[in-house]
Amino acid sequence: MLIAGNWKMHKGAHEARAFAARLRHLPDRATDVDIVVCPPFVALEAALQGLGSESRVQVYAQNVHWELEGAFTGEVSAPMLLELGVKGTIVGHSERRQFFGETDGSVARRAEAALEAGLVVIACVGETEAEREAGETEAVLGRQVPVLPEHERLVIAYEPVWAIGTGKTASPELAQQAHAFVKSLHPSRVLYGGSVNPENAASLVAQPDVDGALVGGASLDPTAFDAICLAAAKTVA
Ligand code: PGA
Repeated sequence: MLIAGNWKMHKGAHEARAFAARLRHLPDRATDVDIVVCPPFVALEAALQGLGSESRVQVYAQNVHWELEGAFTGEVSAPMLLELGVKGTIVGHSERRQFFGETDGSVARRAEAALEAGLVVIACVGETEAEREAGETEAVLGRQVPVLPEHERLVIAYEPVWAIGTGKTASPELAQQAHAFVKSLHPSRVLYGGSVNPENAASLVAQPDVDGALVGGASLDPTAFDAICLAAAKTVA
């Protein structure tokens, strides 16, 4: 069971350090849950410092470039992340696809390079509201999922775009259906993402093909993130 908090463009170094220090011992209470936080690039090191060297909470980035170094202004490479102590990265988040021109091809390249370098990769997939209404969910997933490399360190996050930051969570049944379909295309673990909160987390992660959650908004509040991790731990126990 993996619970990852995607902080998006929230929390600079100062806030990240304090927040991470609060989370440091959470894995002792949420046993059998792998807990991850994904701060912005500039706050990665501060989050690691706040957690300290003993904590089992891991720090992932929100994106990574496919080259090791070079003329790629604004990008960060996998070796740079590893040097800090970062253990993984998100790739292909729908906000990157929507606002920054990310494509299935570039997502696959980022994932491959990050895996090759030794990072864990959470690759995001999911349909928009218009695609779901047009009955295209499986067609979209059928395009986004098979391009992802098969690797033991690859984790897929199914995040229906209409459920991200909207408070409109997929029902547990709908999530289960989509996860089962993703798993028919790819052997990796599949997290659910989209308006996960302390109230709905348990019923979502209790679904047989839901292996954890990628949490945005609710991961910014230490009490809510704590509650989600504890709810997830109960479903594993
Ligand atoms: P949300 O975001 O939990 O705020 O809906 C999830 C995500 O975008 O990863």
